[in-house]
Amino acid sequence: MSEIKYPVTRTKNPKPRPKDENHLGFANYFTDHMFMMDYDEGIGWHDGRVVPNEPIPIDPASCVLHYAQMMFEGMKAYLRPDGRLQLFRPDMNAKRMARTADRMAMPVLPEEILLSGIEAVLKEDADWMPKAEGTSMYIRPFIFGNEISFSAQAAKHYTFIILLAPSGSYYASNDGKLGTARIFVQDKYIRAAEGGTGFAKVGGNYGGAMKASRDAQEFNCKDVLWLDAKEHKYVEEIGTSNAFFRIGDEVITAPLDSGTILPGVTRDSVIQLLKKWGVKVSERKLSIDEVMAAAKDGSLKEIFASGTAAVISPIGCLNVKGVDYQVADGEAGEIANRLYHDLYGMQTGKVEDYMGWTYPLDIFVK
Ligand code: COI
Repeated sequence: MSEIKYPVTRTKNPKPRPKDENHLGFANYFTDHMFMMDYDEGIGWHDGRVVPNEPIPIDPASCVLHYAQMMFEGMKAYLRPDGRLQLFRPDMNAKRMARTADRMAMPVLPEEILLSGIEAVLKEDADWMPKAEGTSMYIRPFIFGNEISFSAQAAKHYTFIILLAPSGSYYASNDGKLGTARIFVQDKYIRAAEGGTGFAKVGGNYGGAMKASRDAQEFNCKDVLWLDAKEHKYVEEIGTSNAFFRIGDEVITAPLDSGTILPGVTRDSVIQLLKKWGVKVSERKLSIDEVMAAAKDGSLKEIFASGTAAVISPIGCLNVKGVDYQVADGEAGEIANRLYHDLYGMQTGKVEDYMGWTYPLDIFVK
């Protein structure tokens, strides 16, 4: 537990609580408090505090509203059977924040501030922790340049906030079992190009993807499978998540070296688990033609998305230029089910953490 203590201002306007924990959806509810901290050039990070989660004043000329110098993370707190809360590999988020900060010319947030801020606000709002199966507390730390300036240059003042959202699954689930989603193969727009910000967790990557996601919905698809920017040929990510393809006895995901793939914490965990289980896993380029050929000859066994919000989300059908390609029998596959079982099981303390990934907090709920 962190030694750093922050002042707390309690809310006078408690928020309405979710009525049904079995249908929380993703980030439809937010807790009563949030963590806030400021950064000033020459001073560093200062004035950490827990405050009511309320609208904040922001000047219309604040630079983030114009030039989008911001970054965020996605993490979760989980409830163990003994009532203790725990995080999952939070060091990985802190490291990714540091890489994003470097790319965005923003100040690095030390890991101990990230962790102590999360602990402080979670402690205050621990009674918001959802208990239903498949739920968790989604944690959204974010930092934005916040000064009155129209000069397109790195800001000198930043605001850091951590929000908590009791949440269920991001994609489909059927009565506690993993459901499958339909995904549209996007061959017109791109998500990230080499040298861009694809590997960084920044709002612009998501804002630029929204038209593609909306177009995908016209084909009754939940989201898109992105292809590479250069040749529109190689598979990259699925919507807001990393993508895995099981063809024959090999599980394949896009390699990180292009700098266009988000280095997901769940992605890394999936790769490590598959290696541990003796499953052949490759980080290599995979063309959409290879995927379609495998769908036709029956060797395409599974596709699934992985992410903090998405956890493990199986894909039952790919739509390529308006034509459906079913993935095996269209149901969640064996590897996706096993990954979900062990990952979510470890995260919630129901499966022994044989990888040493969980990070128990000194916060208990009844
Ligand atoms: C996450 O998985 O935490 C993300 O940040 C993706 C988000 C768009 C829900």
